[in-house]
Amino acid sequence: MSQTMRLTALFVSIIASTIWCCATPKELKIQKQSYGTSKDGQAIDLYRLTNSLGMEVCITNYGGTVVSLKVPDRDGKFDDVVLGYDKLEDYENGSSYFGATIGRYANRIAHGKFVLDGKAYQLPKNNGDNTLHGGIEGFNKRIWTAKDMSDGHAQSLQLTFFSKNGEEGFPGNLSVTVTFALSNDRDELRIDYAATTDRDTVVNLTNHSYFNLSGAGNGDILGQQLLLSAKQFTPIDADLIPTGEVRSVKGTDFDFATPTAIGARINNGSEQLKFGRGYDHNFILDREHTGSLALAARVYDPKSGRRLEISTTEPGIQLYSGNFLDGTVRGKAQKAYQYRSAFCLETQHFPDSPNHSSFPGTVLKPGQRFQSTTVYRFSAD
Ligand code: GLA
Repeated sequence: MSQTMRLTALFVSIIASTIWCCATPKELKIQKQSYGTSKDGQAIDLYRLTNSLGMEVCITNYGGTVVSLKVPDRDGKFDDVVLGYDKLEDYENGSSYFGATIGRYANRIAHGKFVLDGKAYQLPKNNGDNTLHGGIEGFNKRIWTAKDMSDGHAQSLQLTFFSKNGEEGFPGNLSVTVTFALSNDRDELRIDYAATTDRDTVVNLTNHSYFNLSGAGNGDILGQQLLLSAKQFTPIDADLIPTGEVRSVKGTDFDFATPTAIGARINNGSEQLKFGRGYDHNFILDREHTGSLALAARVYDPKSGRRLEISTTEPGIQLYSGNFLDGTVRGKAQKAYQYRSAFCLETQHFPDSPNHSSFPGTVLKPGQRFQSTTVYRFSAD
């Protein structure tokens, strides 16, 4: 080979590897933009995850919040299927938990009290006489640290938060990691949760996305058909606290073993539906192996043809039918979110578990690692 040919070959290979190095990772990188400044003066960002099929999920490090999630309907038309606000300030002032990461203890703790290792803890109450979703300033009101962990298979956003000993009344310094991964070749968002502590504490983590498969702000969800892999649920009292009873769903308004419209029985007037003002109940997920990833729920929207399948390693799922939405909250594009215009399916440990020894435990000890996974898979037909 002549000197010129060798130099040309070298030049070509340098150019090729430069293109490869710069182009490949760039394609997979999450796009980041400013989402404004928080009340306490911190810069907040919005991260845009996309895949090769056009699905897009926007997440802010304020509250670890899913701000928007765009998926196609049966005609390939994309719509945002989660409720949310237009701007950061609304998330800071809001009390609906739209799309947020919930902790340290998702759902309710009766009277804000529990006993751990013989010591009584009193948490601040933010829901009547109870503590809801981690208290006054739960993880949904905190600023998380973000890191792009994308690889060739998925765009992954890792969020971490250090919850101090005593924060919102909970014992132990808790290090929390929540990773959102959007598959490159499937319409699938995976959320992995992990936590460690330096003192015995209680942990229950979830995501509080409000879904409307017809699109956020486009009517109610009463005609959307739900299937739940749950033969039992945990009945509640008038304060939405589980009584401790485990009840079979068979023959009740809580039987979603075959796909049934969410609204089919919601106004039947049974005591449980009155207490919940509709569905606001924890279902016990059927599973062969504790902690394995299994199908928990499937929702189909006959109007758009969109389908959502939720799989989780968690033992329970809270079905909330948007009973507190009443049209007063204005969301994205200033749309008023009407009564029952979204559903939440919050994968979780059961509400008030620290006060029910018969429920799966929520205690985390030093040296242990809390871990859970929930996968949201979308399709349309
Ligand atoms: C949870 C609760 C509901 C309601 C919503 C937020 O899903 O179970 O009762 O508080 O959060 O409005």
